[in-house]
Amino acid sequence: NHYDLILRNADIATVGDRYRADIGVRDGRICAIAQQLDGSAAREIDAAGRLVTPGGVDGHCHFDQPTSDGSRFADDFFTGTRSAACGGTTTVLPFAAQQKGHSIQEAVDDYHRRAEGKAVIDYAFHLIVADATKDVTQRELPALIEKGYTSFKIYMTYDDLKLADRQIIEVLAVARKHGAMTMIHAENSDCIAWLTEQLLEAGLTAPRYHSSSRPMAVEREATHRAIALAELIDTPILIVHVSGREAVEQIHWARGRGLPIHAETCPQYLFLSAEDLGIDPDDPMHGARCICSPPPRDKGNQQFIWNGLSSGLFTIFSSDHAPFNMQGSDGKRVAGDDASFDRIPNGIPGVETRLPLLMSEGVMAGRIDIHRFVELTATNPARLYGLYPKKGTIAVGGDADFVVWDVFGEGEEKIIANDMLHHAADYTPYEGMKLRAWPGVTVSRGRVVWQDGVFSAAAGSGQFQPCLRPRTPNATNPLDKWI
Ligand code: URP
Ligand code: ZN
Ligand code: ZN
Repeated sequence: NHYDLILRNADIATVGDRYRADIGVRDGRICAIAQQLDGSAAREIDAAGRLVTPGGVDGHCHFDQPTSDGSRFADDFFTGTRSAACGGTTTVLPFAAQQKGHSIQEAVDDYHRRAEGKAVIDYAFHLIVADATKDVTQRELPALIEKGYTSFKIYMTYDDLKLADRQIIEVLAVARKHGAMTMIHAENSDCIAWLTEQLLEAGLTAPRYHSSSRPMAVEREATHRAIALAELIDTPILIVHVSGREAVEQIHWARGRGLPIHAETCPQYLFLSAEDLGIDPDDPMHGARCICSPPPRDKGNQQFIWNGLSSGLFTIFSSDHAPFNMQGSDGKRVAGDDASFDRIPNGIPGVETRLPLLMSEGVMAGRIDIHRFVELTATNPARLYGLYPKKGTIAVGGDADFVVWDVFGEGEEKIIANDMLHHAADYTPYEGMKLRAWPGVTVSRGRVVWQDGVFSAAAGSGQFQPCLRPRTPNATNPLDKWI
């Protein structure tokens, strides 16, 4: 009865349960959960009745991803995973991105080199398929799925990444045949190109016109098309970073038809709005800090996203952490201090604030219950991407990944400030927000990586996690459905 770690008096919440117990950890795994665990441990933590949830699984974040415009992501695998750990996340899934004209394997090898010796929590990779050649769909993807890369993102926009509908169909057919999950960035590329050209010709170049160049209809149309292509091939997809109520309506419509369409949303669509891209008279670039795609919408839209979280329309809640510095010449200002909106790197930081924002404004504010919180932030991403039940819940036999929460009464809230965060980005878009909860302790594979404001994990102590196939391969021809 000797453990490496015992967590005593935990108020454990999972998707299906809520109960008081002690958790015993050995060799990185949970090996006992009991009301009063007998035995001793090298280290004991008394949770004293505090809420304990599974370690967060962030199903969408970008660390040290190569770019094509000379910009650089502010976080590498060390600072990115450190930030995740301090915000209660114990598994991340960033993207190994194929470059057009190159193999995906090259991107995977390169990305392993970037992660190894740096990650402090466990990680798996999604693939980005940017060039769906016959060799990629017939040989590379099946081989990579076999090796534990079982999800891939494809883009309907961005010139260096986007796939034509025919290529999307080919990728969906691979996912069906081999039991993988396809994530789709749904925005209509030609609409954005035309609107951008019109805006620039009219001299409307400031950051806030980023959002005018990608209105909700652009996302709605692409979401509908992605759903139709998935229906054609008869395979599940996940629409990533759903931002607007019009795309939400499309997903609702698809679900009503019984189609297996999953959807993800992110903190920026709950807490930011198009106004945050507005002009600061002292710094025309100020709004660049909130430039991401799809863009945050009008304030009224935020309620639709909350409704989708509470109703079960959204399957997962991810950060889409894509950090670029506001200062210096390799971040948001890569094309200069007065660059037009279309030359400003897309993305905002948020890997550390994802869980505390949702716990505070979702659970503690009464908008979602604790079980839904766990499902959205840990269990469902682990299920969708083939990491469950090793990751994503609190269960005997699973990895010892959990968070002990600190909660603050009214008047004692924690105020978000960039200098308390552990990423390398020089700002947070959530500066000044008051939160009623923050992770007090994060345990990752049995190691206490964050406790009482102190981060302690060695670079390289996170492990690569090969993913299982999230679904059974389906060798039948999708044509059968249509004849
Ligand atoms: O603006 C965003 N979201 N940047 C990150 C890349 C992506 O499309 O998710
Ligand atoms: Zn995207
Ligand atoms: Zn992203």
